[in-house]
Amino acid sequence: MSVTTTPEATTPPSSTPRQVRSTTRSVAAARERTAVLEDLIARNPGEYRVLTGDRPTGALHLGHLLGTVANRVRLQDLGVEVFLIVADYQVITDRDDTGDLPATVREVLLDYLAAGLDPERSTVFTHSAVPALNQLLLPFLSLVTVAELERNPTVKAEAEAALLRQERGISGLLFTYPVHQAADILFCHGNLVPVGVDQLPHLEITRTVARRFNQRYAAAQPYFPEPDALIAPSTTVLGDDGRRMSKSRGNALELRASEDETAAFFKRARTDADRVITYEPERRPEIANLLQIGAYFTGTSPEALADEVGAAGAGRLKAVVTEAVVEGLRPLRARRRELASAGPQHLAEVLARGNARANEIADRTLDDVRGLMGMRY
Ligand code: TRP
Repeated sequence: MSVTTTPEATTPPSSTPRQVRSTTRSVAAARERTAVLEDLIARNPGEYRVLTGDRPTGALHLGHLLGTVANRVRLQDLGVEVFLIVADYQVITDRDDTGDLPATVREVLLDYLAAGLDPERSTVFTHSAVPALNQLLLPFLSLVTVAELERNPTVKAEAEAALLRQERGISGLLFTYPVHQAADILFCHGNLVPVGVDQLPHLEITRTVARRFNQRYAAAQPYFPEPDALIAPSTTVLGDDGRRMSKSRGNALELRASEDETAAFFKRARTDADRVITYEPERRPEIANLLQIGAYFTGTSPEALADEVGAAGAGRLKAVVTEAVVEGLRPLRARRRELASAGPQHLAEVLARGNARANEIADRTLDDVRGLMGMRY
């Protein structure tokens, strides 16, 4: 398949405006590229392999579903091969206490399966069970500079936040995790990564690693693909405090929540003082968020839903959205309960099969890499 090339960054951005401009430009480019890719995928799904995943820090929430999980299921159902990493080593990038990892991994698996991921077609695995994947981190680390890692916006933001909180600095694993993510993607020759816009700089590092590996060790015939980002169609989902929905902020509606908890969540959700409901994402983010969620589950547009509710106001909007979410999640929740009550054996088997498959592929890739690097003795 063809890949777009990005010019190698030679100098770090010197001022904020320049950085903002280049980020905006790359987001716009990624969106344009996504439209082209969607067309190619629909015509030739067999050409693509998706690799994406989640950190097992808790059960998945509505933000996960709308942001990425539903998109993964859609790609799987289009016939694209999907690899899902439960990134357990990423949990220890920024915390000492991992909680009950086996229980959390089971919750994430339940969410995946309930959302429609089919283990017969898709591969689910964990970092810690695939040694050869992790070993790729070593040669990959040699292909990036410390300055490049320091420029990664997530790493930078975490470093600044740690400084503000007067905590010890960021861990070495956090500093290098974008390169670890390159190993996650490249071990299986993933060429399509469905992500939110916040993950674009990480993907740029993956592309850099692939390009430099090819230049250095596989000049005659490129070995790794330069994967493309596939930007999720929907926008950021907000929590009940008006900020981006996130497990760690405690503002999330978990997919496994009950109907009562769902109703209570939307009762708490923020609105604004304007009586008439309109869809204005910039000026009225909280209302726009409710409209987007309602529209998603009723298969309409946020604009149409706004027209429908109109002068009936925020109370009516909340009632409509609650009903839409309760109805929309009913099949997922029923499946989840069924899978959960069937006991842990089935989940353990799904993961064991996924891990075995990932290991087989990772072993082959690492062996190829050893060969290309002249390290086969
Ligand atoms: N960092 C991602 C998250 O926190 C999870 C992840 C790990 C991932 N490895 C990946 C995503 C590789 C895409 C590709 O959600």
